[in-house]
Amino acid sequence: MGLVSLLKKKNRTTLFTTPSHGRKFFIFHKFYQWYKYDISETDTHDPQEALKQAEHKASKIYGTRYTKFLTNGSTSGVIAAIISSGVKKILIWDKAHPCHRNGAILAGCQITEYTLPINEKWGADIAITPAKVKELLNKYPADGIIITTPTYEGFAANIKEISLICKKKNVKLIADEAHGALYPFSDELPESAVKYADYTIQSLHKTAGGLNPTALLHSNDNDPEEALSMINTTSPSYPLLATIEANINFLNSKKGRRKLDNLIKFIKSLKLPQGGEDITKILIKKEGLTGYQLSEILFDKYKIEDEKTNEVSTMLLCGIGTSKRMLIKLKKALEEIYSEK
Ligand SMILES: Cc1ncc(COP(=O)(O)O)c(C=O)c1O
Repeated sequence: MGLVSLLKKKNRTTLFTTPSHGRKFFIFHKFYQWYKYDISETDTHDPQEALKQAEHKASKIYGTRYTKFLTNGSTSGVIAAIISSGVKKILIWDKAHPCHRNGAILAGCQITEYTLPINEKWGADIAITPAKVKELLNKYPADGIIITTPTYEGFAANIKEISLICKKKNVKLIADEAHGALYPFSDELPESAVKYADYTIQSLHKTAGGLNPTALLHSNDNDPEEALSMINTTSPSYPLLATIEANINFLNSKKGRRKLDNLIKFIKSLKLPQGGEDITKILIKKEGLTGYQLSEILFDKYKIEDEKTNEVSTMLLCGIGTSKRMLIKLKKALEEIYSEK
C-alpha cells in the first residue's frame, strides 16, 4: 500500500497514543488547505521576521530567554541544545532517547552514562532524583547533564532542586521534557523545567495537540539559533511553524486552559490508582496479567490503543485532544476487565 492510500484508511480504534490531537481535535482549522500557506523564506512578506516575532512572543509566554519553534521534533531540539550549550563532558542516562547520545557525539562531547532504577510497582522508568544528580556530579567532572523528565510513563523529576544543584556546580542542565509540553499550562501537572533548566525541549505533538513533528526548544542560556542552523533545512515549512504559534496561543488561552483543566478533572474522577506524578499518563495493571496481556485485551476486545507497555503495566496517554467520550469508554472497559476473575 502506498502512503496516500495508507493515510486515507480509517482507523476505528480509540487512540490513547500520540499524536495528541487524536486525528479529531484540530486546533488549526485554517490549515486544511495546506498548499495555500506553503511559502518560501524569500516571500516578500518577510516570514523570517514574522517567525522571530512569534518566537519572541512565545518566550514571554513561557518566561524563557529564548524559545525556538522546531519542525523536526524534540530530536532536533535536544541535538541543538547540546551543541549550543558548549558542554564538553556530559552525563547521559543510558536508557535515554537516542538523540541524547547522537547530540553529544555530534557536539564532540565526552560521554559518561548513568543508570537509574525502575519503579517496581509499575515496571516503569523513573526520573532522576536530586540526590542522584548530586552523587553523579561529585563523582564525575562533567560540565553538563541531560535528564529526561517526565519519563515516558509520567514520572517527573524535582526540577527546581536539580537546577539549584547544577547551578552550584556550574554544570549546564538540559531537560528533555518531550512528554511534558502541557506542564507550563496547569498547576495540577508537575512543574515544567522551562524556567529552571538551561535548555528544555518539548514535543508539542506528543501531548499538546500539535502536528507531528512540532516541538519547542527553550533556552535560558545561549541563543540556540546558530546550533539550529547547523541541523535545520534552509527551506522551513511555514505552515507547520504557524501551527506552532497557533498551538501555543491556544494552550495559553482561557479556552485552552479550561480544556486542560477539564481533562485533568475527568481523569481524576476515574479514581484509578496513581502511577507517576503526571496523571495524564494513565498507568493500569491487573493482577495475574502482564502489561502485554492487558494491552492485548484492550486492543482486541475494546479497540482501545495504548501508548507504551511493559511487563507489569500499560500506559494510556492522554493529551489535550483526549475527549470525555474516550475516557468514558476507557472507564467502562476497565470496569469490565477489573471485574473479571
Ligand atoms: C524522552 C524522549 N525524548 C525525545 C524524543 C524525540 O521526540 P520527537 O519525536 O519529537 O523528535 C522522544 C520520542 O519519543 C522521547 O520519548
